[in-house]
This record gives sequence, structure tokens and C-alpha cells, in this order.
Amino acid sequence: MWKWMLTSGVSPLPHFACFLLFSLACSASASCRGEPEDALTLDATNCSSSLERHTRSYNHLQGDVRWRRLYSATKYFLKIDRAGKVNGTRKKNCLNSIMEIRSVNVGVVAIKAVNTGFYLAMNKKGKLYGTEEYNNNCKFKERIEENGYNTYASLKWKHKGRQMFISLNGKGSPRRGHKTRRKHLSAHFLPMMVP
Ligand SMILES: *[C@@H]1O[C@H](CO)[C@@H](O)[C@H](O)[C@H]1NC(C)=O
Ligand SMILES: *[C@@H]1O[C@H](CO)[C@@H](O)[C@H](O)[C@H]1NC(C)=O
Repeated sequence: MWKWMLTSGVSPLPHFACFLLFSLACSASASCRGEPEDALTLDATNCSSSLERHTRSYNHLQGDVRWRRLYSATKYFLKIDRAGKVNGTRKKNCLNSIMEIRSVNVGVVAIKAVNTGFYLAMNKKGKLYGTEEYNNNCKFKERIEENGYNTYASLKWKHKGRQMFISLNGKGSPRRGHKTRRKHLSAHFLPMMVP
């Protein structure tokens, strides 16, 4: 059955397959419950090393803090450089892609690049930028989508009633918020554990 799942249907998204196995393995094992999800790894599967360990953040308790890399479905890690510029990188070990993800309210997170100290923010125009000063532009609604990826929508700003999402396009660059949609792969991220 595992083999079937890995070879059919989900093959374009191997990490999703991992996640699926992870979920199934977890729901089958009572010991998973109540344990910090961070402790779990995907021993049973042979996903590529960088994808081997990721965890899901489901509690959203205020004050919950995780260090993660946000890996887009377009295969880039989100980073904020020393100038506060937001962009994607293919490098797995880039220091500027390590993010502190903190729950600031139920389902709402603040994302800070640990190495450069910048918070990820979105302005009214839907532009992503880094800021040293924490404010409402730095709050994002984190939601788990049906394909197992997370989306992050600006809490404060919308464009014509539509939510604006953090996204990295196929070239690794952020898209303007008003061009993003929840269903776009460019807006889908896996929070990966920092080894
Ligand atoms: C897991 O995959 C790696 C390469 O991706 C391979 O070298 C290794 O033998 C695999 N292990 C198992 C148990 O299949
Ligand atoms: C953003 O990242 C992409 C992919 O890593 C790179 O090709 C591009 O040049 C970067 N853009 C800027 C302005 O640094």
C-alpha cells in the first residue's frame, strides 16, 4: 500500500507523500499523541534527507515558538538577507533561511529570520519585506491546506477583499500579494525542521 501511494498519484510531490505517511504512521500510533511533534521523524520512509524531517504546527498556542525553514512548493527556501530583502534560495543550509515562527494569537504567527533579525512583513501593496520593528504587518494567518502545505496570509491587509499570501514564484522571487491565491503552489510552504 505504501508503495502504491508513493508511486501513483502523489509522485510529483514526494514530500507530500512523506507527510502522508507521517500522518498515517502517527495516527496509527497512540504514542504520537501528546508528544511534541518536533520529536517525530520519518524513520519509516526514505525521503531525501532535506525533506526527511519536517513537522506540523497544529497547536497555535500563543507563545509557541519553532525554528523552521519555510520550503515552498516551488522548491525554494524563504530567506531574508542582511539588507532586509526577502527572496528564495535553493541552498538547503543558508543561515538566512532559518526562521523563528512564533504564534502570536490563535492561528496567527510572526516569522523572524534568526540570523539577520528581520521580521517578515507584508505592506498594504502586498510587497514582502523585512523589518526590524515588529508591527501588524508582521502578522500572518497560518493555515494547513488540503495538500499538507501551509499558507500564510497577511492578517492586516487584503486586496479587494481577497487575502494576500506569502509566495515564491518559480524563479524564487516573492510575488506581489494581490497576485497570490490560496490554491497557487507558489503560496504553499512546508515548515522544515532545522537540523
Ligand atoms: C534511501 O535513499 C538513498 C538515496 O536517496 C539511498 O542511497 C539509500 O540506499 C536508500 N535507503 C533505503 C533503505 O532504501
Ligand atoms: C532571488 O532569488 C532567485 C533564486 O534564488 C535569484 O535567481 C534572484 O536573482 C534573486 N533576486 C534578487 C533580486 O536577489
